[in-house]
Parts: sequence; structure tokens; C-alpha cells
Amino acid sequence: MNETSLKKTLSKINIGGLRWFDSIGSTNDEALAWAAAGADDLSIVIADEQTQGRGRLNRRWFTPKGSALAFSLILRPSAALRPHLSRTVGLAALSIADSLTQTRLAPRIKWPNDILLNGKKTAGILVESVWSGEDVDSLVIGMGINVFRDSVPPADVLQFPATSLEEMLGSIPHAREEILLSILEAFIRWRERMGSDELIHAWEEMLSFRGEQVEVKAGGETPVTGKVDGLESDGSLRLKDLHDNSVIVRFGDVSLRPMA
Ligand code: BTN
Repeated sequence: MNETSLKKTLSKINIGGLRWFDSIGSTNDEALAWAAAGADDLSIVIADEQTQGRGRLNRRWFTPKGSALAFSLILRPSAALRPHLSRTVGLAALSIADSLTQTRLAPRIKWPNDILLNGKKTAGILVESVWSGEDVDSLVIGMGINVFRDSVPPADVLQFPATSLEEMLGSIPHAREEILLSILEAFIRWRERMGSDELIHAWEEMLSFRGEQVEVKAGGETPVTGKVDGLESDGSLRLKDLHDNSVIVRFGDVSLRPMA
């Protein structure tokens, strides 16, 4: 993947601007600055290597050179989309999941922001906002996909088992820019239905650990446990406790784990 091949591939769809870097600290940092400076909707920052890649919960995100897809998408929400912004991470997760399904894989979404293949993390999403007073001016959706084996960090630093598309498929049948194109196409399709029940249902269908007992930790609070039941209309996770009562887990600094 290089700037020329990327531009050629992405010319098939309508995006805003494009910034390509051989190496960068974090594409999310660059995209946040660009968004604050007025970047167009659907502008993309993408890099072949990140030296300061960031994940949720202040974790590092590894992007060794030539190994992964690491990009950040800038969204300028229309008035119609504003009531549904809490669904943004689901929109991104479904887009990655749809794209992987096309390559005969069976992805699952570990709420809120991980894509699993065979129970192992293959992609992560980090959504950040640019504010204008009390309103969201724009959103930056960072997506990191482990494409080649080299993108998977060593086991001793992993919080959760991880894998790559190469490991799952045996080899990578498409160039990385083709995978990016199919994610963006799915994103554009799903964004048109961002406020629909269809999006929540599709997201729910893809949830991992459905019907299974999980533990969800939120910040310093006591962990919540229950069976994964589904999603609320704002994308919050609904668990069922031992007494079959619904427990709603809101977005935030949460991490979800299956229970033994
Ligand atoms: C997570 O799983 O915790 C989220 C990982 C998000 C990683 C992507 S890679 C592109 C973008 N730039 C970053 O620094 N992070 C996101």
C-alpha cells in the first residue's frame, strides 16, 4: 500500500480529504487536529506505521510498519444523525464486520469496540470527539485492523487473546487498500441507516457471548455480571442478572470479559 495505490482505490467512493503517512504517532491525533481545523466529512488519515498508536483505556495500540490497517475517519454529523451519535461505535464495528464477512470469515463484535475472529481480537475502534462549546463539532473514528501476523503484539502484553486476518485466512487475498475500501463502502451504507432499528438489530446479531455469562468492569466500580441479552436503542448493552432482571451497561471506560 502506498499513497498512489490508495488514491486510486479510494477514487471509487466519495470521501472528503486523504492524508497518508509512511509513519506517524497516532492517526487519531492527526485527525483530531485536522477536524478542529475544518476537515471535510469523511476525510481519512491513514498510516503504514504508528509509533504512538492509542487504544481505549489508555492502552497502546501496536502498528508495526506494513503490518496492519490503521486509519481515522472524520465525521461531521448532519442534524439528522445527531440524535444517534451514541451508535457511532456500532456503525464502525458493523462496517468492519461486514467487510470481514465478505472474505468468508465469521466476525463477532465484543461490545463495545472490539472485533473478534474465533474468539480473538482482530480489530479495535477508538471514537473521539471535537467539541464546539457544548456541541459535538466532529467525531474521529480510529480503526485498527490486524492484517498480517506481525501486527499482533506479543502475548505477554495482551489484555485479551488476539489474532490477525493472515492467521485466520492462511494468506491475505486482497491488498490492504481493498480491505479499507470495503470497510468504507459498508460504513457509507450503514451510515444512511444509522437511526434505523435495522442497524441495532444487525449490531445485536453480531454480538459475541450472546446468552453467555460475562463480567463488565466500568472504571473503579464493582464489576457487573450477567448474561448478554442485547442492545438498547442507544447502543448500551443489556445484561440479564440471576433474577432475570435487565441490567443496562452504558458506554464509558468499560471492559467486558467472558466468565469461566
Ligand atoms: C482499542 O481496541 O482499544 C481501540 C484501538 C484503536 C486503534 C486505532 S489504529 C488507528 C487509530 N489511531 C490510534 O492511535 N488508534 C486508532
